[in-house]
Amino acid sequence: MLPYRKVNLFFSGEEVDTDATNLFMHAEYTVPQKYGIALAKTLDFVSVPNSTYEMKDEDKKKVLKFLPKKLLEVEIPEVWVLNIKPADTSNLTMLAPHVDKVRKCCINFYIDPHGETTTYYEYFAGKIKEIGNFVAKNGECWVLDSDQPHSVTLSPPHTRKAISISFIHTPYKEVIKFLE
Ligand SMILES: [Fe+2]
Repeated sequence: MLPYRKVNLFFSGEEVDTDATNLFMHAEYTVPQKYGIALAKTLDFVSVPNSTYEMKDEDKKKVLKFLPKKLLEVEIPEVWVLNIKPADTSNLTMLAPHVDKVRKCCINFYIDPHGETTTYYEYFAGKIKEIGNFVAKNGECWVLDSDQPHSVTLSPPHTRKAISISFIHTPYKEVIKFLE
C-alpha cells in the first residue's frame, strides 16, 4: 500500500485563516532525524524547520465538516495549519525526510501551492531510497501516512501552506478506509 493517496474532497481554504502570523504556534520541529541525515549523504540541500499552528476554533468546524461522521466517531482529529518557509538561498530547500512523531496520519488540504513535491522513502540501515512522490494542486486533499519517512521540496520564495487534519492515534490504513 502506498503511504499517500489523493481522495475526492476539495477545499481551497476560503473563509478560514491559514496565515500563521495570525495563529498560535502549536510546535516547531528543529532536530534532524536519521532519515534526513541519510539523504544528506547523497543530496546537497538546505533543511528548514517545520512549524505547526493551531487553527482557530471556529475554522476547525468548517474543516471537519468535510469528513465522514463515521471517521469522527473513531477519533476527533486535531486541525493544524502548516506554513513552511523556504530558506533564503538559491540552493535546493526542503523539509528534510522525517516521520511525524506526534501523529500517525494526516489529511491535508493544500492552499495556493507552487509545485512543491512531497516524497516518500524507505529507510534501512542508514540508507534511504525514494519510493514515490506527488505534487498537490490547489485545494486538493491527500491522506498521508505520517509514520513513514517523507520530505517536502519547497518552491522559494513561496511559503508552503496546508490545512492538516491530524490523527494522533488512528493509523493511515484505518483512516483511509473511510475515504475510499
Ligand atoms: Fe511530516
